Amino acid sequence: MTVNRRDLLALLAAPLASGTIPAIAAEGTSLGAVAAAVGIAFGSAFDREVFDDADYRKLIASETRLVTAENALKFDWLRPKGPDADFSTADRIVEFARHNDLLLRGTTLVWNDNPPPWLRRSSLTELRYLFDRHIDETLTRYRGRIHSWDVVNEPFYPPQRLPGGYRQGPWYDAFGPAYIERAFRRAASVDPATRLVLNEAFCEQQDALGISVRAGLLKLVERLKGEGVPLHAIGLQGHLKPALPFDDQVFVEFLTRLAGFGVDLYITELDVDDGGMPDDINKRDLMVASRYRDFLKAVLTVPAVKAVITWQLSDRYSWYGELARRKHPPGRRPRPLPYDDGLQRKPAAQAMIEALLTRVK
Ligand code: XIL
Repeated sequence: MTVNRRDLLALLAAPLASGTIPAIAAEGTSLGAVAAAVGIAFGSAFDREVFDDADYRKLIASETRLVTAENALKFDWLRPKGPDADFSTADRIVEFARHNDLLLRGTTLVWNDNPPPWLRRSSLTELRYLFDRHIDETLTRYRGRIHSWDVVNEPFYPPQRLPGGYRQGPWYDAFGPAYIERAFRRAASVDPATRLVLNEAFCEQQDALGISVRAGLLKLVERLKGEGVPLHAIGLQGHLKPALPFDDQVFVEFLTRLAGFGVDLYITELDVDDGGMPDDINKRDLMVASRYRDFLKAVLTVPAVKAVITWQLSDRYSWYGELARRKHPPGRRPRPLPYDDGLQRKPAAQAMIEALLTRVK
C-alpha cells in the first residue's frame, strides 16, 4: 500500500479515540512509505546478515528507503589485517541496496575509534599515506552509488582531555584536528556527487558529555562552513539512553542552530537503550515506544531534518544484543528497535508512525 499526502491529511482530520491505532499503521503500511509521504527518508542500518536471513532481507526491502551499511564500509572491516582492502562484503551490500532500490549511506570513512591493531603500529608517515589512500580507494570504488558518506565519525570525546575536546586516535595523531577538513576536501574531490556528512554521538544527552560535545560541534561546523569546507549534512546518531538526563527542547534548539549554518540534518543511528527498564516485556516495549515518540515528535519539528535511520530494524540484530551476549554472564535480551526478535512490529513502530504524522503541515 502506498500512502499519499492526502491520505495522511484525511487520517489526521479524523478524530482518533485515545489508544486507537491509525488504520494505516494497523494495515502494516511500511514505515518508509509513511515517512516518504511527509518528506522524510526513513531507513535502518543492516549488514551481511541479510545474505543469510531471507525474512530480514524482505523486511528491510519493504520497510526502508535509505539504508546504512552498519559495518562493511568501515576501515577496520575493509582492512582488518593490513593496508590492502577486501571489498567483497561491501560490494555485496552495495549491490543488495541497488537491487532493492534502496539509497545507501556509507559509514564511516574516518573514525578515530576502533583502529585495527596493525594500524596502531604504523608510523606517522604511514598513517598520513594510508589516510589519503583509504579515502581515494573507497570513494573511487563506489563513486555514484552512495547517497551520503559519514566522512568523519565522532570527532569529539572530551573525557580524553585533548585540546578542543577532540577524540584521540591515529588520524588525530597524523594531522591534528586538521584531519577533519582534509577528509572532507579529499572526499569531495573524489566523489563530487555524494553528500558529505559529519556524524556525532551523545548530542541528545543533557549531561556533561552531551553538553560539551554539542558546544564543540557547533564551533566546528561554524568554522568548517566559514572556511568553505564541503559539508552537506550533520548526522546525529541518536542512541537514546532514557536512563541518562535528556531534554528534547534543548536538543531541538541545538538542531536549529546547526541548521542555521546551512546544513541538512540526519538522525543516523536511532535506537532506545532499554537497560534499567523493567523485565516485563509489555511494560518495557511501551517505555521504549514512548521515548521514540517524544524524541521524534520534537526532532521532526525542525525542517532541516531530512532522514531518520534506526541502527538495525529488528532486535534480532541490534548491537545491544551483541554487547549483552558478550557479558559474563550474558545480559538480558535487549529490545531497542521497532521490530522484535521474531520480526514482528512493536509499539515503537506505531510510535514512530504517530510522530511522523505530526510532520504533516
Ligand atoms: C557499531 C556496530 O553496531 C557494531 O556491530 C560494531 O561491532 C561496532 O560499531 N556509533 C557508531 C557506530 O558510530 O558505527 C557503531 O556501530 C555504534 C556506535
